[in-house]
Amino acid sequence: MIVNRRSFLSSTAAAAGLAACLGRGSSAAPPRLGDDPMTWTKADLPTPALLLDLDRFEANVKTMAEQVRRHGCSVRPHAKTHKCPEIARRLVSAGAVGSSCATVPEVEAMAAGGVRSVLLTSPILDPRKAARLAALAGGGTEVLVAVGHPRTADLLSQAAEAARVTLDVLLDLDVGDGRFGIPPGDPALDLARTMARSKALRLRGIQAYSGTSSHISGFEARERTSREAMGKAVAMRERLEKAGLPAAILSGGSTGTYNIDTTIQGVTELQAGSYVFMDVNYRRIGGKDGNATYADFAPSLSVLATVVSAAHPDRVSIDAGIKAFSSDTAETPEAKDSPGLKYRRFGDEFGLITAEPGARLPQLGDRLEFYVPHCDPTVNLYDRIYALRGDRVEDVWPIMARREFRPEGSRS
Ligand SMILES: Cc1ncc(COP(=O)(O)O)c(C=O)c1O
Repeated sequence: MIVNRRSFLSSTAAAAGLAACLGRGSSAAPPRLGDDPMTWTKADLPTPALLLDLDRFEANVKTMAEQVRRHGCSVRPHAKTHKCPEIARRLVSAGAVGSSCATVPEVEAMAAGGVRSVLLTSPILDPRKAARLAALAGGGTEVLVAVGHPRTADLLSQAAEAARVTLDVLLDLDVGDGRFGIPPGDPALDLARTMARSKALRLRGIQAYSGTSSHISGFEARERTSREAMGKAVAMRERLEKAGLPAAILSGGSTGTYNIDTTIQGVTELQAGSYVFMDVNYRRIGGKDGNATYADFAPSLSVLATVVSAAHPDRVSIDAGIKAFSSDTAETPEAKDSPGLKYRRFGDEFGLITAEPGARLPQLGDRLEFYVPHCDPTVNLYDRIYALRGDRVEDVWPIMARREFRPEGSRS
């Protein structure tokens, strides 16, 4: 099933629900909006709302597409960032080879949205998940799975045999994070051999993700770490080739290292994700040009909030707290276009805004926009993203696969 804006709106009754609860001004009768979001503007949206600046998003997509094209590389953008099939489709239209996914529900959502090639980058050990991946492969989607342990290889092989399909696999190499994957060396080569021998698996190459490198502040240090990490993967790829094993793909990389990893001979595709949105965290890592702000990609994602209490002369409360912004990092939301305002977490539903000397404290009812501290877990808090062209809503896109894996037969 392809999920588009229209089916999303009707299936969730979002249009009716939103129209009913939207309010502007202080008149008793809430203003009614038409069912077509294309007639809405930013001022019509209920808050908190997740917004996408389409011009900036498209510029980010273009920057990455040009970088990979220039270096003879590909990009398979990570859907863990956006969880949105419409965005995945747009990325593919701009040249991406498919989607990377962190969970089986993400794989399923992207495939249902029309993405023809998906890579699961996280380890699985649950036969129900393996069976669902095999079922997708049987339906014509190219399903690649990163495998870092013989148990996962076994699991996938059994699931693929049972479904009478072939599953594509990448040797998942731990190049320094120590989080998942198998370290380079003889056991890794053995695992690759085992998968290459399996009748139900097709070895395609290597995955090597260096999360450690992605957020290192300062370009030189980032480059050093990433080259070291990806160098191990390139060497392993050469070992596979020497052993006569398939190794056409070497997939890895991130938003922070895109301009490093694309220059490393032997890296064939990038898994970067955050670049489509950017966030406060990423902007702090610094650019290649020495600038303290990493500005290769523009912040396209924001949260719109309303001042809902202004009872004190020196601070106001907005309706966007921990449930509106992820709170996993020390960074806090950054007011867009209002540099003198400071955000402080003020509980589940509220944020506290203060103004630095010279800045104007917002008033009751004012609407403010904030860049988010960390894009992936913030997106995970919302059901929809409003895609804006300037102040006009151009589209409303569902965010899918936010929930846990649900086995067949479970009651909800
Ligand atoms: C396996 C894997 N690949 C790629 C990425 C994308 O990284 P980024 O969002 O930093 O571009 C991530 C992010 O956590 C990841 O876990």
